[in-house]
Amino acid sequence: MPDSDKYPVESGRRRFVKGVVGSAALSGIGVTTAVSVDSMTSQTGAGGGTTVYRGNELVSGPAPRGMPQIPLEVDDEGYVRGIWPDVEEAEGPDDVATAEQEIGGVNYSTTWFQYCGSQTSPAVDPREDRDNYFRYVGATQIDWQNEEVEGGDRVHVDDFADYDDYDTVVGDAGAGKPALVNWRSEGLSPADRLPVLLIRSPEVEEAAQDDEWIEGSTDQGFIANLNQCTHYCCVPGFRVLGESRQFGAENMIYCNCHQSVYDPYSITEQQYTALPRPGDSVLPGGN
Ligand code: FES
Repeated sequence: MPDSDKYPVESGRRRFVKGVVGSAALSGIGVTTAVSVDSMTSQTGAGGGTTVYRGNELVSGPAPRGMPQIPLEVDDEGYVRGIWPDVEEAEGPDDVATAEQEIGGVNYSTTWFQYCGSQTSPAVDPREDRDNYFRYVGATQIDWQNEEVEGGDRVHVDDFADYDDYDTVVGDAGAGKPALVNWRSEGLSPADRLPVLLIRSPEVEEAAQDDEWIEGSTDQGFIANLNQCTHYCCVPGFRVLGESRQFGAENMIYCNCHQSVYDPYSITEQQYTALPRPGDSVLPGGN
């Protein structure tokens, strides 16, 4: 049986999709205002628990869900950075810092990123005042990145000037220009760095015109996700591996560990159980 039969490919124009995927009851979920502190400590420990997030859509493969999107913005000088909410208040001995912020009617929380070991990284501690700019990783499977920028450089919008017709050996011209970057990770060990897939595409610009969340969480066609496969935490790629064609994934995010495929341009509301952060994240005055 050919591989393409094992993993049927969706056809038709991809769209940014609203709604809950694989979700049970979502009672109690609502939009919060500005910044708050969450104290979900009763069942899973400090700062973990049921988390509703926006992420790219899992199309096929063994991964249980999509990878969480990272809201971003382009600053006045053209550098691209992720959005990280501030923590402004703490209450009670059991409260654990969990910054939240409303973006486009969606409650964006730092718990979105607490899986695959990231929950132990200082990069996801809401109280860590870190540089939120995306910085290129060193050697990657992305040729343009190896040839045109240096590891550690901040991402600039000019680096993606050719995004609307970017072409490479995998996928279609104009299907999106990728880069592999780190976020909030300067000075951290490799194990603690947050890997991020950043893509610039006209499809994102188009979707931002009629979707409040996409409008608020993307900028000038840039979209980002925490690039940790939700199966066994490998780092997937976009338009880099020819074998992705076997799974209809030449224009998709493809994890070659066990062939999970994610659609970068189909953003859905999903949920999972965020893992708790270490006890040293308890706010001052806590236990
Ligand atoms: S498909 Fe298994 S780690 Fe990605």
